[in-house]
Amino acid sequence: MAELFTNIGFVKELAATADNMYRLGWDERNGGNISYLIPEEEVERYFNPDHVLRTIPLGFDAKELIGKYFLVTGTGKYFKNVSKDPETNLGLFRIAKDGKTAELLWGYADGGKFTSELPAHLMSHIQRLKVDPENRVVMHTHPTNLLAMTYVHELDSAKFTHTLWQMSTECVVVFPDGVEVLPWMLCGTNSIGEATAEKMKESRVVVWALHGIYGAGKTLDETFGLIETVEKAAQIYMLTAHLPRVNTITDDQMKELANLFGVKVKNGILR
Ligand code: 13P
Ligand code: ZN
Repeated sequence: MAELFTNIGFVKELAATADNMYRLGWDERNGGNISYLIPEEEVERYFNPDHVLRTIPLGFDAKELIGKYFLVTGTGKYFKNVSKDPETNLGLFRIAKDGKTAELLWGYADGGKFTSELPAHLMSHIQRLKVDPENRVVMHTHPTNLLAMTYVHELDSAKFTHTLWQMSTECVVVFPDGVEVLPWMLCGTNSIGEATAEKMKESRVVVWALHGIYGAGKTLDETFGLIETVEKAAQIYMLTAHLPRVNTITDDQMKELANLFGVKVKNGILR
């Protein structure tokens, strides 16, 4: 039976993404969490929607998501174990009619529950769905260089974005909305969830200083690629920040790139 679930397309996809993130060293121990909105018809291909295993209180109001299904990593679970045992490390649930309860259809097989960062995930889904109805993924992880960069770079969102855009030619094209940076905040709370969702109005990437990053997108691949690009830029920064800068990408060159690729860059960053 467990093997059957491992072969479900969306479960396989999420497990492969967790494997990739672990391989890159971003998700030590239980670090990181992923939420993936699954269309009702996809869920119904494999599960009986009337067969609820148990209910779990959300701890906040997600009424905008009533009836929607999410596949979400479990709290305290290690990314390195997701593909070996998806039924313990993942859970598939529906947001109940009260908007405040998760109705578990599958997973969290050891009696566990969804990530402690569910407020930031679901509040970000609510926000991103308003901007892009096709948004299905929210991803949180602890990429090494990005995290290091938040210790040595000013946390001003515009300055942080400008530095990242300068670190490799394609950055301005991949994340033209830039990144929004939050100062250190207590994680796993509704407050950090609300602050993250507020920043998601502006950008698909939110940096949690001294902690990690949130990315949002249509697909797991696209969201992973977004974070991968930001992390690569942070890596170039960390490899060069202590050295004299001899060459750089100019603002005019970034404007040329934006024109060529037809992207609108966030206002107030390029001069
Ligand atoms: P969870 O194990 O609850 O998903 O928490 C991991 C994490 O990265 C907290 O920010
Ligand atoms: Zn974290």
